[in-house]
Amino acid sequence: VSEDTRPDTLSDRSISAVADLIKSGRAKRIVVMTGAGISTAAGIPDFRSPKTGLYHNLARLDLPHPEAVFEIDFFRNNPRPFYVLAKELYPGNFHPTISHAFVALLAKRKLLRMLFTQNIDCLERAAGVPPELIVEAHGSFATQRCIDCKNPFPDAEMRKCVESASAPNCFHKGCGGLVKPDIVFFGEQLPSTFFDNATVPQEADLVIVAGTSLMVHPFAGLPRLARDSVPRVLFNMERVGDFGTRADDVLCLGECDDGIRKLADDLGWRDELEKMWVDL
Ligand code: APR
Repeated sequence: VSEDTRPDTLSDRSISAVADLIKSGRAKRIVVMTGAGISTAAGIPDFRSPKTGLYHNLARLDLPHPEAVFEIDFFRNNPRPFYVLAKELYPGNFHPTISHAFVALLAKRKLLRMLFTQNIDCLERAAGVPPELIVEAHGSFATQRCIDCKNPFPDAEMRKCVESASAPNCFHKGCGGLVKPDIVFFGEQLPSTFFDNATVPQEADLVIVAGTSLMVHPFAGLPRLARDSVPRVLFNMERVGDFGTRADDVLCLGECDDGIRKLADDLGWRDELEKMWVDL
C-alpha cells in the first residue's frame, strides 16, 4: 500500500490539507503557540520587526539597550521607561484580531487542547478563549505586586499609576518597594503554569504557531516537543525556529490574519469566524 496510513499525516503541505485533517476529526487536541505578531493587526507593535518593532522604537526612553526596559535590575534602578511603555501597552485600548478569534473558535468547537502565548496584552482572554486553556508564559498585565515583599497591589491604584506613567510603591509599612505588573522580565522565572503544562505539546495531534520569532527560550522550544508524526503549521511573516525541517511542517508565510482566514475558508468556518470577531 503506497498511501501513508499514519492516522494524522497530511496529504500535502498545504492549508487545505490541514483543513481536511481537522474536518476528518483526526485533529481533536490542537495546541496553539502565539507571539506578538498576532497582535500587531490590533495596533500593538511587536518587538523585533524591523522599523515597527518596539525594540527599534525605544530610543526616546534613553535605554542602555532596548531589552533593558524589561530587565529587572534596570527596572529597580529606573522604573520610569517601563511605565512610559506600560501606558502605551496597557490592556483595554485594543480589540482582538481575527487570529485571536480563531483560537476562541477552536475552543468553542472543543478542538483546543491548550494555547501557549508569550503576549501580555490579554487579547486571548478578550477574544473568549477560556482562561483554563491559556498559558500566559510571560505573564500578563492582569495582576501586579511589589518586587520586594511580593504582596499584591490593588488594580484600581495600578490603573491610576499606569495612566500617569508613574511607578507605584508598595503600601506595606516598612517596605515601600517598587510595584511591577506580573509580566515576566528578563532574569525572572516563568510562571509555574508554564512548567506544569510544558509536556502538553507532546499530546497534540496538530500544532499551530503564529506571530512569533521563536527567539526567546524556554517558550521557543515548545514547537519541537510535538511528536514527529504530528503536523505543525506556521502562520508568520517569516520562517522561524526549525519549521520546514519536518515532513508535515506547513509554512503559511505572510500576514497571520490572511493565513487564518484561508484556513477558516477551507474549514467552512469563515462566516462564523467573522461574525464572532465582529461581536467581540
Ligand atoms: N502576521 C504574521 N507575522 C507577523 C505579523 C503579522 N501581522 N506581525 C509580526 N509578525 C511576525 C514577525 O515577523 C516576527 O517573526 O511575528 C514575529 C514577532 O516576533 P517578536 O517581535 O520577536 O515577538 P515575540 O516572538 O512574541 O517575542 C518573544 O520576546 O521580548 C520578549 O517577552 C518578550 O514575549 C516576548 C518575546
